[in-house]
Amino acid sequence: MPTAFITGITGQDGSYLAELLLAKGYLVYGLIRRSSTFNTARIDHLYQDPHVKDYRLRLVYGDLNDGARLHALLAEIKPDEIYNLAAQAHVQVSFEMPEGTGQTDALGVTRLLESVRAVCPAARFYQAGSSEMFGSSPAPQNEDTTLLPRSPYAIAKLYAHHMTRNYREAYGMFAVSGILFNHESPRRGATFVTRKITRAVAAIKAGAQDKLFLGNLDARRDWGFAPEYVEGMWRMLQATTPRDYVLATGEVHSVREFVERAFARAGLDWQQHVEIDPRYLRPTEVDVLQGDASRAAKDLGWKAQTRFHELADLMVDADLQAQQQGRGEFEVVTRHFT
Ligand code: NAP
Ligand code: GDD
Repeated sequence: MPTAFITGITGQDGSYLAELLLAKGYLVYGLIRRSSTFNTARIDHLYQDPHVKDYRLRLVYGDLNDGARLHALLAEIKPDEIYNLAAQAHVQVSFEMPEGTGQTDALGVTRLLESVRAVCPAARFYQAGSSEMFGSSPAPQNEDTTLLPRSPYAIAKLYAHHMTRNYREAYGMFAVSGILFNHESPRRGATFVTRKITRAVAAIKAGAQDKLFLGNLDARRDWGFAPEYVEGMWRMLQATTPRDYVLATGEVHSVREFVERAFARAGLDWQQHVEIDPRYLRPTEVDVLQGDASRAAKDLGWKAQTRFHELADLMVDADLQAQQQGRGEFEVVTRHFT
């Protein structure tokens, strides 16, 4: 049974990746942080699945800022594959806490890579790189595009991206960085723009909220569906040769277009409800991200399937349903391992 170690398992991508790997028969270890309240809502359903009765999902405490713990865990687990998804992943928050973001998103990766090198150098390592690293480089962007980051988050990710490449070149490790464009889902964190919009649409439809305050509506992004992207991560680690890959849809839309589509899906007029609040404007903005994932298509056979309008619709539908059923932040999961 192959063994995987996932950091960031409580996050959007970590939860989908855990599902995917469990379905493939992996033994999955997930790194979680101790929290004063439960933070495992995205993965709780995995314990109710009959196929996990054999304890193939194991959660272990740790933190990317605790190198000794990472070292001890990897020495004990000796995973075949490591997926480093843990990060302070919010761009605007990174302007408020650049040092903390750098500790986790940049140096945290070095801590992990050093532990891998010391105790399980044959393990395959995936680093969650980001299209945010392209920053102000003109679109469309691919693996050869110049990286011109525009936020402390992107700069930390850039450091981690280069460290991953350096460990590959210096020590011959199978270490790759996936340069993933924005990907969303009903499990998306509530403060990222798509989910902020779809949750607000559901609350407004229910009469529980009237206004939605947003920042820059002109920013353009290449939004895909998260479950497809974790499949791409897995494929990167199954490849014969370690390489960095862009994952993207190639389709680009503005925040305004997402707002229009989401409100229309619920039969609402967005202009009645959306207001601009300068608090949500960033000191430096990334205007347009549009990916060219042709290398992933050619080498890995990976292609995004879900289109922009389908993504907006499925997120709105999930939040409308959650609102009607008085459920919490995440959808009821019906998918099972086999
Ligand atoms: P997310 O939902 O915000 O999840 C982040 C995860 O990282 C959570 O499990 C969080 O744990 C964990 N974490 C944060 N700081 C940590 C630390 N110091 N030690 C250990 N764990 C820590 O993010 P996501 O959307 O799933 O993204 C996954 C990864 O892909 C991130 O690295 C992100 O930067 C990158 N990425 C995301 C996208 C995207 O569009 N989603 C695109 C490109 C790259 P808690 O639950 O305890 O907070
Ligand atoms: N979050 C947020 N909140 N963003 C807003 C708002 C708002 O109220 N109003 C407008 N925006 C704009 C942001 O300025 C940005 O241009 C765009 O919406 C998308 O913002 P986010 O959803 O926060 O995502 P992001 O593009 O900054 O970062 C995401 O994608 C990266 C990959 O490109 C995150 O998932 C990162 O972790 C990821 O690396």
